[in-house]
Amino acid sequence: MQSTLRESASKMSKDTDPSLVVADSLADEVRRDLTQSPKQLKPHYLYDTLGSRLFEAICALPEYPITRAEHGLLDTHAEAISADMAGPVTLVELGGGNGQKLAQLIEPLARSNWGLRVELVDVSVTALDLAKQTLERFRGLPVICHETTYELGLARVTRHRPDQGGMLVAFLGSNLGNLDSRSALGFVSVVRSVLRSGDRFLLGLDLVKPESELLLAYDDPLGVTAAFNKNILSRLNRELGSDFSLEHFRHHVEWNEAASRVEMHLESLCSQTVWIPGAHCRIPFADGEMIWTESSRKYQLHEIKALGAQAGFTVREQWVDTEARFAVTCFEVV
Ligand code: AVJ
Repeated sequence: MQSTLRESASKMSKDTDPSLVVADSLADEVRRDLTQSPKQLKPHYLYDTLGSRLFEAICALPEYPITRAEHGLLDTHAEAISADMAGPVTLVELGGGNGQKLAQLIEPLARSNWGLRVELVDVSVTALDLAKQTLERFRGLPVICHETTYELGLARVTRHRPDQGGMLVAFLGSNLGNLDSRSALGFVSVVRSVLRSGDRFLLGLDLVKPESELLLAYDDPLGVTAAFNKNILSRLNRELGSDFSLEHFRHHVEWNEAASRVEMHLESLCSQTVWIPGAHCRIPFADGEMIWTESSRKYQLHEIKALGAQAGFTVREQWVDTEARFAVTCFEVV
């Protein structure tokens, strides 16, 4: 089976700028990333149908505070986030998941803003379907889905935007945390470059906290995060015909203090060779060797402001929950 990403990327390429790089296929990317040292797999491959559902379950875990803290902040500040924006507003969410946070942002806009439109960008069809369902309660609200990467989706959304009205781009759930510092600045700069005066960028990021709390959030006692991580191997088995045996890999989590990030790995529990026919390769693993599957960068408040400023944004407001776990920062183009 082809990767969804490839299908949507080639669909996209017909009506997008040919200078935009079209995403690699799952097979090409897996071959390249598993023959590197250290071995890695791109985190967006964690989100197939089962992966997206497991992520939903993670968000409900008592050890994973991100989702609850962010919902709380949006609940209190949704009004202020879009206050005084010129209508009709286009609300864009990147990698939004199930649409519940988006619904919180829509609530005040739907009351006051005539002509509101919503655009969703996500690589996961499951997430897009869930979000569409969540938004059904806003009758008559136009919701447009883009099953593609953030960059391609953003380019498409901003190219087809109306001449009038502001745009609010939401990037929540600490999704930016998956990127290393350089890529994060690069990405926020891309967002800035496609926006115009009066537009806003809403960034939700998890904050640095004690190591024990961070490790527990990514290695929960129920094993939901372990299942989420190992599911990437089942996905490769299903889509590329590989023969990873899941019992020969273990979920492994580490706090990398120097880089201020939690790293998620899959550790090979023996010396073994995995055959991946769909990617035309055979991958040897040493006992104890790791595949790096995800990083979740944790920020300090001033680092978030500095990041936006470096990308050319002005800080409108920054909100933090009472336990100082999570921050939502609203940037603006002046
Ligand atoms: C959706 C990427 C923000 O890094 O916290 C949750 C994904 N991984 N538990 C995060 C995740 C393991 C999550 N992001």
